[in-house]
Amino acid sequence: MTALAGTTPPRIEARGVTVRFGGLVALDSVDLAVPPGAVVGLVGPNGAGKSTLFAVLSGLLRPSSGAVLMDGRDVTSVSAQARARHGLARTFQHPELFPGLTVRQHVVLAYRLRHARRRIWTDLVTAGGFRRAGAEEDRRVDGILAALRLTPYVHLPVAGLPLGTGRLLEIARALAVDPNVLLLDEPSSGLDARETDELAATLTGLVAEHGVSLLLVEHDVELVLGISDFVHVLDFGVGISAGTPAEVRADPAVRAAYLGTEEDEHDGPDENVEHDRQDEERATA
Ligand SMILES: Nc1ncnc2c1ncn2[C@@H]1O[C@H](COP(=O)(O)OP(=O)(O)O)[C@@H](O)[C@H]1O
Ligand SMILES: [Mg+2]
Repeated sequence: MTALAGTTPPRIEARGVTVRFGGLVALDSVDLAVPPGAVVGLVGPNGAGKSTLFAVLSGLLRPSSGAVLMDGRDVTSVSAQARARHGLARTFQHPELFPGLTVRQHVVLAYRLRHARRRIWTDLVTAGGFRRAGAEEDRRVDGILAALRLTPYVHLPVAGLPLGTGRLLEIARALAVDPNVLLLDEPSSGLDARETDELAATLTGLVAEHGVSLLLVEHDVELVLGISDFVHVLDFGVGISAGTPAEVRADPAVRAAYLGTEEDEHDGPDENVEHDRQDEERATA
């Protein structure tokens, strides 16, 4: 991955991205790159600008200035749909699942949206609904379900599934369109410690097996530091630190702004500790 990073442009990249909401500068000239095959983490206290950057990268929000590139191409004014066709997939913090469909049907639907769009319409007008498709579809869909450890649940309707399973299904759906870069918005939100550990192992496996690059936007700092190749830290819309997990963990600016303030040797007053404490508590729990 590091060898590739020097020669191949990043899958997706923010260059000098600034976003203003009226007088508020939500992002101030932020740089971030997701190299091929890398897991990149984006962390920061509440209100730091993570979701704003996520929206800019996925194409839902035009930056006030700066650029977004995919594989070296400027896509700043390219729609979210066109970015998706170019290999970008994303999950939502609050997944929209169809309660009556099974786990497998969700992934089939996502697969057909990309690979066999016309089948969706024929299935809709055919009594009996979903027909089985070819061996290739079965192989891909079942492979994705297995990679996300969803095989035991494939025939269950999603209504009543645990939240953690729903999140894995959301990732499975995103993978079914064969993305080369996947943006995950708070995938650990609402998960307990065991589910979060499983998620971490699953995400690491995905990168190894599918070669997909990941951008992980998370409030769970330990999850991000545990599985990312590079980590970016935002604070009040400014990129205050970037590097390997070890570098970021050791960075005094990060510790002051975000990580375990109880370890700080700061003696003077520090305005940064006025940040929303919720994330810090989670991070140090
Ligand atoms: N649509 C919007 N209009 C106005 N202000 C916004 C909007 N979205 C976000 N903000 C503000 O921008 C800042 C960054 O928000 P956000 O990107 O949601 O942070 P994070 O995801 O890191 O918690 C916050 O101060 C937030 O209130
Ligand atoms: Mg957010």
